[in-house]
Amino acid sequence: MRGSTAIAVTSGKGGVGKTNISVNLSLALSKLGKRVALFDADLALANGHILMGVNPAKTVVDALKADAPLKDIITQGPEGVKLISGGSGLTEMMNLSTANRRKIINAFGELGQDVDYLVVDTAAGIEDNVLDFVHACNRVLVVVVGEPAAFIDAYASIKVLSQSGRVSHFDIVVNRARNEAHGKDIFKRFKAIVERFLDANIYHVATVPEDDQLNAGVSRCNPVMLSAPNSRSAKAIMGLAELITGPKATPVNEDAEAFFASETAT
Ligand SMILES: Nc1ncnc2c1ncn2[C@@H]1O[C@H](COP(=O)(O)OP(=O)(O)OP(=O)(O)O)[C@@H](O)[C@H]1O
Ligand SMILES: [Mg+2]
Repeated sequence: MRGSTAIAVTSGKGGVGKTNISVNLSLALSKLGKRVALFDADLALANGHILMGVNPAKTVVDALKADAPLKDIITQGPEGVKLISGGSGLTEMMNLSTANRRKIINAFGELGQDVDYLVVDTAAGIEDNVLDFVHACNRVLVVVVGEPAAFIDAYASIKVLSQSGRVSHFDIVVNRARNEAHGKDIFKRFKAIVERFLDANIYHVATVPEDDQLNAGVSRCNPVMLSAPNSRSAKAIMGLAELITGPKATPVNEDAEAFFASETAT
């Protein structure tokens, strides 16, 4: 039987929309009645809380320093989403040791009883800081936009992740597309590159259109899923939440349950 699912939201190139997709996907899953936590794993540059309009009193740094349970540093976000914030602006988080990253990941075991979905908003790129957190998730969403640099960098991410042998299924979210057809076209071009060179399964799970209402939500610190649930971008992200919770969900990477490993072991 499946326990909780950890969903990584990652990208090769920065600024392609990971945080917006993570926050709004968390809210969408919660609206669907799921128990959701959002881990802002963009340590050092954590900004998910700003978009959510909350001010975390504590971050994972406090849990690490005090050896305190994660439950003590959770910030309640909108729609009951539990936010676990990274430490914004802290150089110590940028230089986190592998052992400390492992400690953070293991600490999530205690949350497994309380959440159905953990959404993990990562930093961009293929640093160990990013890869360790992605490897600990069983579903990997890669955000791409339709420009060559984003393709090349997303390809690099998929390459290192698939070559580790631990991730073989990748959910692709095409962001900032003009429309559905444009999103399909971007995915088709990206898939052709990936399949030519890599042994990875990639699935087109959502096209999120370019949407002024999403940006308006960003400036008001009120995510589009709440401020404009009928907007094109909110509907697309709700569609993504419905897909991954529904009977037609794309396959997850069964070997990677590290975020809840200690929970599943008991
Ligand atoms: N679908 C969209 N329509 C319009 N604007 C968007 C869309 N997606 C993202 N943006 C804008 O792009 C910018 C970057 O988004 P976001 O912070 O979510 O990216 P990111 O991938 O998390 O960046 P970083 O790599 O720095 O963490 C934001 O200003 C956001 O408003
Ligand atoms: Mg971000």
